[in-house]
Amino acid sequence: MPPLDVSTVGAYLASRCVVSDAGPVEVEPLSGGFINSVFRVTADGREYVVKQALAESSRTVLRAGIRRSEMEARAMVAIRRSLGPDCPIPEMLVHDTVAHVTVMSAAPRAAVLYQDELMAGRCHPAAARRVGAYAARLHERTGGDRSLARRFATNPGFALRDQTIRSVAGACPDLRDVLDTILDRDRAHASALVDYDITPKNILVHGDAVTKLDFECAKWGDPAFDVGLALAHFLLVAFSRPEATAALVDEARAWYAGYTTHRAGAPDRGFVLRAKDYLAAMMLARSNGDLVFDFLDPHRAVVAVVARTLLDEPHDHMETVLERTAELIGAVAAVDQR
Ligand SMILES: Nc1ncnc2c1ncn2[C@@H]1O[C@H](COP(=O)(O)OP(=O)(O)O)[C@@H](O)[C@H]1O
Ligand SMILES: [Mg+2]
Repeated sequence: MPPLDVSTVGAYLASRCVVSDAGPVEVEPLSGGFINSVFRVTADGREYVVKQALAESSRTVLRAGIRRSEMEARAMVAIRRSLGPDCPIPEMLVHDTVAHVTVMSAAPRAAVLYQDELMAGRCHPAAARRVGAYAARLHERTGGDRSLARRFATNPGFALRDQTIRSVAGACPDLRDVLDTILDRDRAHASALVDYDITPKNILVHGDAVTKLDFECAKWGDPAFDVGLALAHFLLVAFSRPEATAALVDEARAWYAGYTTHRAGAPDRGFVLRAKDYLAAMMLARSNGDLVFDFLDPHRAVVAVVARTLLDEPHDHMETVLERTAELIGAVAAVDQR
């Protein structure tokens, strides 16, 4: 079957009995990812999202086995089962293991992408708190589950996360061993189902609610990774909008407050130290790896200065990590006026 496009999605869904043959089907392409096609479909008075994983993409050098699509569908089911009815992710409706297509429920049409909001200067601390709570509940409910540990021991989609971090060694060869150690630690501390893609690019905000999308990297791992990755993505926006640093740090604080409120027991010192290093590694990955965020391209060097400093310093309280990062961003922004 050739890859789906706007003209073939309707017939595909009818052939899989997701929609009826008779009625009109409206299909819109959705933008976002680099290695998947995503469509929003309206048919039979319902709205669906159809996501097809592509084996190859001309838009990125990143590669991950196509079975990541099946793992994403499995993760969506496992996460909903673990979190129960109050689960802020789409419902997985159908997965086609041959065409690598997942059909899921659609978030409300009025939903806005959290990343676009942050870039436009609109913060949503209540949304940040809810996303932090999602991560905590995921870790709390799946922690120590031996069946999940076995089923999510590996995921070819994790290559996306692994490559983005390892590829930093191209620009920063002296960090190769440090990055290897950080990824080794993730394996050594694997204790729960970890999302590995909790970024504002994968979060829709609608009113007071959020929908978390995109589960193709999910696997058994170190919960501290989700914390470091999520917080890094709030702070990275500050490099292009230094005047908003205080508000973005508050957004990160709200995320972490949502996280700690929903975890049993405060994160220990080792957890925070690892989260800090994952945070720094993700800052480097997004600015100096193989797939750089466009908005960070002019700031590669200064992000590297901040991330390297964080790697060197042994901060073991998250509040100190956030304050120190804000201080470093303020200092580099005062020099780098782009
Ligand atoms: N269930 C959904 N409801 C509404 N919009 C969605 C849904 N799933 C994906 N999208 C839209 O499509 C974009 C890409 O989807 P995503 O799953 O993040 O793909 P990728 O893995 O390629 O990043 C999202 O940023 C979002 O705008
Ligand atoms: Mg995405």
